[in-house]
Amino acid sequence: MSDEKALGLDEAYSVKTPEDNRRLYAKWAATYESSFVDAKQYRYPKAISEVFNEHVPTDADELARVIDIGCGTGLTGMYLSHLRPHLFIDGLDISPEMLAEARRKQRTDDSLVYTNLSECDLTQSVVNTFESYDALICSGTFTHGHLGPDALKNVLSLVRPAGWIVIGVNNEHFEGKNFQGELDSLADAKRITAPEILRIDVYEKGSPHFGDQARVILAQII
Ligand SMILES: C[S@@+](CC[C@H](N)C(=O)[O-])C[C@H]1O[C@@H](n2cnc3c(N)ncnc32)[C@H](O)[C@@H]1O
Repeated sequence: MSDEKALGLDEAYSVKTPEDNRRLYAKWAATYESSFVDAKQYRYPKAISEVFNEHVPTDADELARVIDIGCGTGLTGMYLSHLRPHLFIDGLDISPEMLAEARRKQRTDDSLVYTNLSECDLTQSVVNTFESYDALICSGTFTHGHLGPDALKNVLSLVRPAGWIVIGVNNEHFEGKNFQGELDSLADAKRITAPEILRIDVYEKGSPHFGDQARVILAQII
């Protein structure tokens, strides 16, 4: 792949391993927003934040701390902070270069979006060094060659009992990798409530990718 060529979905969907992901996003971090998010009218971080805002209760005493997994350059945290300014938001990602971009993201009052940003491979079990979270949000990371259904159980321990998960999954990936089967097992094992599955558009009308959708898994930890 030439460095001059804009990176995009073809490259993102052709990765296979965590090491491939580290390499891809090391090259892509600086131009991810200009060459992909803006150029292709990628609305996933905004859409998932809107789902969170509509479905996760607003009581500040009960919902104060959120973890954004596969946070990338920090767009999901940024949109969520616009909708819910009182939230403390931490982020996890495998790519130090993407985390460096997220570190600069600001809220509408110019304070930083994220309190803590940590490097973490979510294909492995996750050790949380902080207090457990009230909710978890994720856009764009459960997709081809990134995270499969196995990674769901790795991240549940980040969230306290009765806390919420709002996780977007690429539509074809959801079907092809049998996410529903994994969700049924987690619900049967009483790890999560029976999930509600919603659908969102990943790209705005006018994007060459308009029509691509994601499922959104909405559930509570038991
Ligand atoms: C398409 S980007 C999505 C970023 C952001 N959530 C958004 O919607 O703009 C996918 C992100 O997943 C991260 N990622 C890929 N594999 C990962 C893994 N094994 N563990 C943690 N993060 C991973 C990448 O570094 C990248 O930042």
